[in-house]
Amino acid sequence: MSTNLLTVAYIAASALFILSLGGLSNQESARKGNIFGIAGMTIAFVATALSPLVTGYTTLAATIIPGAIIGAILASRVAMTSMPELVAILHSFVGLAAVLVGIGNYLQPESGLVGAEATIHEIEIFIGVFIGAVTFTGSIIAFGKLRAILSSKPLMLPARHFLNIAMLVATVWLGVQFMGTENGLQPLLIMTGIACVLGVHLVMAIGGADMPVVISMLNSYSGWAAAAAGFMLSNDLLIITGALVGSSGAILSYIMCKAMNRSFISVILGGFGEGAGAPSGGGVQIEGEAKPTTVEGTVELLLNAKSVIITPGYGMAVAQAQHGVSEITKILRDRGVNVRFGIHPVAGRLPGHMNVLLAEANVPYDIVLEMDEINEDFPETDVVLVIGANDTVNPSAMEDPSSPIAGMPVLEVWKAKDVVVMKRSMASGYAGVENPLFYKENTQMLFGDARKNIDAILGQLLTQDEAGEKVLVGAK
Ligand code: TAP
Repeated sequence: MSTNLLTVAYIAASALFILSLGGLSNQESARKGNIFGIAGMTIAFVATALSPLVTGYTTLAATIIPGAIIGAILASRVAMTSMPELVAILHSFVGLAAVLVGIGNYLQPESGLVGAEATIHEIEIFIGVFIGAVTFTGSIIAFGKLRAILSSKPLMLPARHFLNIAMLVATVWLGVQFMGTENGLQPLLIMTGIACVLGVHLVMAIGGADMPVVISMLNSYSGWAAAAAGFMLSNDLLIITGALVGSSGAILSYIMCKAMNRSFISVILGGFGEGAGAPSGGGVQIEGEAKPTTVEGTVELLLNAKSVIITPGYGMAVAQAQHGVSEITKILRDRGVNVRFGIHPVAGRLPGHMNVLLAEANVPYDIVLEMDEINEDFPETDVVLVIGANDTVNPSAMEDPSSPIAGMPVLEVWKAKDVVVMKRSMASGYAGVENPLFYKENTQMLFGDARKNIDAILGQLLTQDEAGEKVLVGAK
């Protein structure tokens, strides 16, 4: 393929990646966005493989074919709830690739680079390898934490900030050594080792509750690592793609930090989320008793309601209750009830988790609203069904300044007339924080697996409908 054709192909692929990102920002256009992304990647891959720079087709086939097969099998098998783990481990591959490209590039430099050009190239290599190594080990630790191979508790070493600063200072010093010598391999490799330790230490210090932000932050790092590899290889498409991934990951991290009322710096510095998965001990002691309810009681509330808001969370994903929820929504809407969904930005375990599940179950997009769009409507709502959500509907975020999640914006479900919380026990959610919602006057707890209860509610609503039809037929 001629260089001109290659450039045209790269421009087309870049445009398709931008269109893909645009499409993915909205549920209705997400499918189209995905197709643009796949088309862009196919063009990028074929054009690069046919470019004059690539000659070793046997090696290319020997690495790409098994890689594609393994990737396709793993991705098709992964459960939605395990998606963050898959994303984390894939980021580690990008980081490792950037390290290998950097070291390889240093060992076999591009010929003809002299003066300032050579210096810039060396800086690209040094920075690319540094970001790649931090991303590589940081992502492996994030994977281990999400898989529960490692404890989700933050590792709080004494003088940990000093340790991080010392590692950064050593990196800068090694950078100076690297630039000032003919044989810079030794400082480059020592820096790689230090950056690997830094990646481990940075992510080990972050608690389970902040893991979503860390994943998106590592996504951003992997993008910058890819962009650095693009500079090293003088590949414009890799630079553009890396920058798109790097900046979109950074924007997503910012949005998530805002949704959790955390500052980006406090997330990076770690320490939050100690004891995630178990009551944290923070916050005011809750007094009172939770009121259990039954499927019949919930059905009665739903049948008497004019407006219902459903706020799903991680439990709905675990129970795979979305199809039953969709059926219930349809029946209630057919009966003239105004049913809508309230989605918290970090409900579930990955960005857009609930939206994907509801779309899969064919819930109409126009009744699925973001937290900001629906929060004001709770006081005028008759019934809120909280399905497997906990942290995202925890009033202590707003009412208790000593709560570990104080300040986090939440769905204000307790303002509705009646609230039914569906979960299996009184256990806390991901952040390990007790939830006063369960003890509120207007809250009733429907204990049990969300799917079992949703199916039972659906069964009763269908029976009601059939009975109603029989009455109508009899009347005719
Ligand atoms: P959580 O606070 O994690 O609570 C989920 C609840 O679901 C649990 O309390 C659990 O209670 C219940 N549950 C589990 N399995 C169930 C089942 N089969 N049937 C019924 N209930 C079940 O959920 P959330 O409100 O969605 O909040 C998400 C949390 O995850 C936030 O803290 C967020 O920061 C964090 N996080 C978010 C993301 C992203 S990006 N969305 C990624 C990682 C972490 P029982 O055990 O009593 O049933």
